[in-house]
Amino acid sequence: MLKVLFVDDQVEMLKPLLNLVKNLLKDVTILAESSGAAGLERARVDKPDMIFLDISMPGMDGYEVCRRLRQSTQTESVPILFLSSMDLTMKEQLEAFELGAVDFLRKPIQSVELATRIRVVERLNNYTQHLEELVAEQTQKIEKQQLLAARTQRLAAMGTLAAGIAHEINQPLNALKVTADGLLYWKDRDEHISEEEVFDGLRFISKQCFRIESIINNMRDLVQQGSGGEMVSVDTHNVIEQALSLIGQQLMSHGIEIVRHFEQGLPHCLGSQTALEQVVLNLLTNGMNALDSIQSNNKQLVIETRSDAELVTIRVIDNGPGIPEEKLESIFDPFYTSSPATEGMGLGLSITQNLIVSMRGSLAVENVEGGGASFIITLPRASA
Ligand SMILES: Nc1ncnc2c1ncn2[C@@H]1O[C@H](COP(=O)(O)OP(=O)(O)OP(=O)(O)O)[C@@H](O)[C@H]1O
Ligand SMILES: [Mg+2]
Repeated sequence: MLKVLFVDDQVEMLKPLLNLVKNLLKDVTILAESSGAAGLERARVDKPDMIFLDISMPGMDGYEVCRRLRQSTQTESVPILFLSSMDLTMKEQLEAFELGAVDFLRKPIQSVELATRIRVVERLNNYTQHLEELVAEQTQKIEKQQLLAARTQRLAAMGTLAAGIAHEINQPLNALKVTADGLLYWKDRDEHISEEEVFDGLRFISKQCFRIESIINNMRDLVQQGSGGEMVSVDTHNVIEQALSLIGQQLMSHGIEIVRHFEQGLPHCLGSQTALEQVVLNLLTNGMNALDSIQSNNKQLVIETRSDAELVTIRVIDNGPGIPEEKLESIFDPFYTSSPATEGMGLGLSITQNLIVSMRGSLAVENVEGGGASFIITLPRASA
């Protein structure tokens, strides 16, 4: 049963008209109230499908009733039609539309006109409801597809990672097997091998085991990050100095000068002290490896800090060989490395990037004019 509410201070005068409408529309229940306040209450309790509102009523006028209906979640979307005994000015009509009215009717109203209007609004209502259902259905479909796509992506990423791990571990594993088999081979043939040769073999085996262990530890780091530790206010310069206290000596022994271009009074950033320290360490280590690959007596690692209203930026810049343009994207991929098979694992930058993302920051890279690479970390400011 369609419910239609009329709110009009002269509701008694409307009664004959409403009776005529009732005869025309058998499936409609007509409710009537003679004041704004009573109309509001009726709307709240009976939840009509549409409301006809007289504009000029003593006390609360139609505009005010409309405003209040729109403010309540129970009645915010019910179609409202204004009734007026005068023609409304353009300004009044605009005001009414802004309040959410769907139409106006000029009194006196003919019963057929009113019945037709009710049917039109009913239809519009049905369409809207249908559209809303369609939108909800489509949104649900899209969400499902997004979930599926994310899962596929995760699986693909896991596949790449698994292939990488298999490849990485295979190398030391092969070396282990060859060494152990070699020793056993000589033993089986009762050939003499010196104690020194046996120990060399064992030392080699131990080294390969260490490599497998560090591959596994690195993988663990990579997986554990996303979870993101607690975000606290971090003194960036302090973190950089901590990292330098660990690696500074090594940098110097590699003939690398450390240059600090620190912003005075740099605001704290939001992040994790240990994660950021690992990030800086990884970038400095990469810079050192890059500088190791060139001949120069002016090797430099510049650490630069800057801030603006929202972000703290740290740059780690070296004057090494830089990165080939076509490799600028792949260097962040897990297991991408240009170092010899037995050294770098190609996990440093993907771990670094994961750490930065878990701190809601970003990591970018660009080549420096005249040679060298610049890694740019941005993190949110603690106060922002
Ligand atoms: N500062 C840099 N200058 C030039 N190339 C760089 C620089 N930093 C990184 N790269 C390139 O990016 C690659 C990937 O770096 P990443 O730190 O992920 O791995 P890695 O250093 O090779 O090994 P790992 O960090 O796992 O020991 C490096 O092998 C190198 O080719
Ligand atoms: Mg590295």
